[in-house]
Amino acid sequence: MTEASTVLDIRGISKVYGGRSGHRGVQALESIDLSIREGEFISFVGPSGCGKTTLLKILDGLLPASSGRILFDGRELVGVSREIAYVFQDINLLPWKSVVENVEIGLVGRGQAPVERRRRAMEVLELVGLHGVASHPPYTLSGGMQQRVGVARALAINPRVLLMDEPFGHLDNMTRETLQIEVSKIWHRMRMSVVFVTHDVDEAIFLSDRIAVFDLDPGRIVEVLDVNLPHPRWEIDVPAQPEAIRLRRAIIERLELRKRVLI
Ligand SMILES: Nc1ncnc2c1ncn2[C@@H]1O[C@H](COP(=O)(O)OP(=O)(O)O)[C@@H](O)[C@H]1O
Ligand SMILES: [Mg+2]
Repeated sequence: MTEASTVLDIRGISKVYGGRSGHRGVQALESIDLSIREGEFISFVGPSGCGKTTLLKILDGLLPASSGRILFDGRELVGVSREIAYVFQDINLLPWKSVVENVEIGLVGRGQAPVERRRRAMEVLELVGLHGVASHPPYTLSGGMQQRVGVARALAINPRVLLMDEPFGHLDNMTRETLQIEVSKIWHRMRMSVVFVTHDVDEAIFLSDRIAVFDLDPGRIVEVLDVNLPHPRWEIDVPAQPEAIRLRRAIIERLELRKRVLI
């Protein structure tokens, strides 16, 4: 692979929650250094509590870091960027708004006319196969469909960077596999950078160009692995590939090692 340029440069990011005089606080992240490349798909895997969500929130400007810097196209990132979108684990669609109105929420405040917002929202709903239910209330949709609405809402702004926090964590295996393929197809079409958090090692291997393995106490990146598998992945039997087997073993060994040390 040729060396792609960096879109997000994470430099020495640390986060301590609740650290006040007399309290040590929780060191959620310690000295995270990572360059997110233009157009890559990178996953974060690691045990619960290792700071994956914290790092996504810092990247999205929802949470201040305790120290360190983030550069976006080489410039310091301050607050929320219009070029970064976030798909939450619990997407919290507003029940009193229709599906299309929920997607439009992501576009409010961008100076677009309502008719233009509607056009864009319908376009992304079409992309995730939901234009047929645009006028429905979200609670009439299945879990998988609601998650697609969350993805559509994030895609509506045509982001350079898409942050996804365990977006399929609550879904059954069938729905999950369908959505993995959909997300992969959308990424192939739009070619934004995707930062994808998952606790599912196979999901990470299926989707990613690189996988960052996290550990906790303090939350940190212990290894970044390249996934040397061809694209598109939905056309190959990924779990059967020697590269996938190798990666799976390497990641699980990394995570298991931590457990043995704790015992
Ligand atoms: N708002 C908060 N206040 C205090 N501690 C928090 C807060 N959010 C997260 N933490 C702690 O920070 C650590 C990392 O949490 P989180 O980023 O949610 O990890 P992950 O997403 O990898 O499970 C955990 O120990 C968690 O309990
Ligand atoms: Mg989390």
